[in-house]
Amino acid sequence: MKFFVDTADTAEIADLAATGMVDGVTTNPSLIKKSGRDIMEVTKEICGLTEGPVSAEVVALDHETMMKEAEVLRKIADNVCIKVPLTIDGLKTCKALTGEGTMVNVTLCFSANQALLAAKAGASFISPFVGRHDDNGLDGMTLIEDIRLIYDNYAFDTEILVASIRHPIHVLESARIGADVATMPPAVIRNLFKHVLTDKGIEGFLKDWADTGQNIG
Ligand code: G3P
Repeated sequence: MKFFVDTADTAEIADLAATGMVDGVTTNPSLIKKSGRDIMEVTKEICGLTEGPVSAEVVALDHETMMKEAEVLRKIADNVCIKVPLTIDGLKTCKALTGEGTMVNVTLCFSANQALLAAKAGASFISPFVGRHDDNGLDGMTLIEDIRLIYDNYAFDTEILVASIRHPIHVLESARIGADVATMPPAVIRNLFKHVLTDKGIEGFLKDWADTGQNIG
C-alpha cells in the first residue's frame, strides 16, 4: 500500500521522506491555509521533496474555471495531481483532464455511488473521507469495502486513496481491505512505527548487552 502525507508542511514532508516511506503528498485549501504559505510556492517546494504525485486542489465550482485553475497548477511540476471535488462540474473536469493525460484525484467522496461515478470519469485516485464519515456516526471502513468490491467487479484503474485518516487502525483496516493508498497526517505515520513491546525489547537487549561489557567494532 502506498503512503501519502496529508500536509503542506514542507519540514514534516522532508523529515518523513527521509524514512523512505513517503510515496506522495496530498494538500487541500485548509492545509494550504494552515501552512501560511503561497499555494504556488509551497506546492512547487513539495513537488521537489517527493517523486510521487502531489495533489493540489482547485477552488472553483464551475467546470470552465476549474480547467483554468488546473492549467495553472499543473504547470508547477510534472508530478502535480489535480484535486477536484466530487460534483458534476468536478467530474466533467476530471474527464477532460485525464483525457489530456493529467493525473486527477477526486476528493470529498462519501458514498460508493460517488466513487463509481469518479471511476467512470477516469479518475486516477478517489479520496473517500473515512474520519469525517466516522464523525457523523457512519462507518468509514464499510465505505472503503464497498468501493473496493465495486472497483474490482469492473476492473476500474482508479486507485482508492483513503483520506481523512485519524489513527493507525484506519491504516490497518485500509490495508486489510486492499486500498491502494492511505494519506495520513504526519503524526499518524509516525505512530505506525511505534509499539510498546518494541521499545521494551530494545531496552531489555541494551541492558543485557551492557552487562557483557563488549563493543561491536
Ligand atoms: O485530505 C483530506 C483530509 O485532509 C481531511 O482530513 O481530518 O480534516 O477530515 P480531516
